[in-house]
Amino acid sequence: MSESRDPPYPELKKSHTMARKGRPWTDYKPPPAAPVWAAIEGLGRYYILLAALELGIFDTLQRMGPSRVEELSAELGAPVDHLGSLLDGVVAQGLLDQFVDIYQLNDTARRYLVSEGPAAMADLIAVAPGPHENWTRLADTVRNGRPATPIEDDPAAFYIPLVEGTFTTMFRCASRADLKIRYSAQPTARVLDLGAGGAPWAIAVLNACPQGSAVINDLPDVIEVARRKTTEHDVSDRCEFRPGDFHTIDVEPESYDLVVLGHVCRTEGADGARRLIERAFAALKPHGRLLLADYFPDMARKANPHAVLMGTTMMASTIRGFTFTHKDFSEWLTAAGFIALRLIEPIGFQQTFVATKPGRSNG
Ligand SMILES: C[S@@+](CC[C@H](N)C(=O)[O-])C[C@H]1O[C@@H](n2cnc3c(N)ncnc32)[C@H](O)[C@@H]1O
Repeated sequence: MSESRDPPYPELKKSHTMARKGRPWTDYKPPPAAPVWAAIEGLGRYYILLAALELGIFDTLQRMGPSRVEELSAELGAPVDHLGSLLDGVVAQGLLDQFVDIYQLNDTARRYLVSEGPAAMADLIAVAPGPHENWTRLADTVRNGRPATPIEDDPAAFYIPLVEGTFTTMFRCASRADLKIRYSAQPTARVLDLGAGGAPWAIAVLNACPQGSAVINDLPDVIEVARRKTTEHDVSDRCEFRPGDFHTIDVEPESYDLVVLGHVCRTEGADGARRLIERAFAALKPHGRLLLADYFPDMARKANPHAVLMGTTMMASTIRGFTFTHKDFSEWLTAAGFIALRLIEPIGFQQTFVATKPGRSNG
């Protein structure tokens, strides 16, 4: 009796499917439909993750450890079949691990998706794409050159949860930036943080500079998040809060060692971004430095799709929002008078231009 090595049921190896090999009766291999499916699946992928967060799946697995779907079903009060289907969708995206009928957190989930994870993004996921309904009207937005309900109609409603959700990431980025640009070498640094959100940059600088001080700006209601975060980080006594529009608030000339434009330029259009860069230049002392963080598409629009898609996200939900390339920013910074331009990436996906105001040329 020969022992069979066949599997118990037929499955096609990935490398043997028609998508890989082309049709058997022609040697023309059509381009794969995978990019089209990727776009179609994008919606489902996002809402699967959102539902998993809303149901508390990641936090529950953190608490319970590796679990069967029946145990999770009892804990979460959702039927086994539906919950199992959702869990499988999360596994298919590489955001959970599964072995037979046991589900468990993987490193990605532990780091980014558990509420208390070291780089938690859980609060960001619902708000990051902007108001969801704007995506269903994107063609109209392109036709009209403006979204029907732009974020600018009620900025606080959008930005308060956004800056709470992005704080952990931006604070990690701002703190890590010190390893590259050594703001801690200026213990008395005075920093101006325009459109500060929860003030991750100002807080990181003040943490590293014991005699440092900060002027923190944001829109009137949003600035309350900065007040709370600076209090939590025990630096609020070295902060002055200056609510208002960053294009028009009073800013003292030649008074700051650091000016931060953290993810603010991409809502302002090219003219607004240039104006902010010029304001920053005027506010800096000679030898002071501008830190300009944003998502910068590359010229071919392929090397950094995250930044390109962030541009489309801005277009979908704001009046003037677009992302601009490294080349655009380099030209604007240079035109404003900055020298010694550098681009740093303190943590993955978070790039920051560092540009210096020249000293007074007195020969
Ligand atoms: C994407 S968040 C960035 C927050 C923070 N700088 C960071 O890097 O995490 C943009 C911030 O700019 C603020 N903002 C938008 N328009 C503004 C304006 N005209 N004047 C002042 N702040 C503004 C928003 O309220 C929000 O806090």
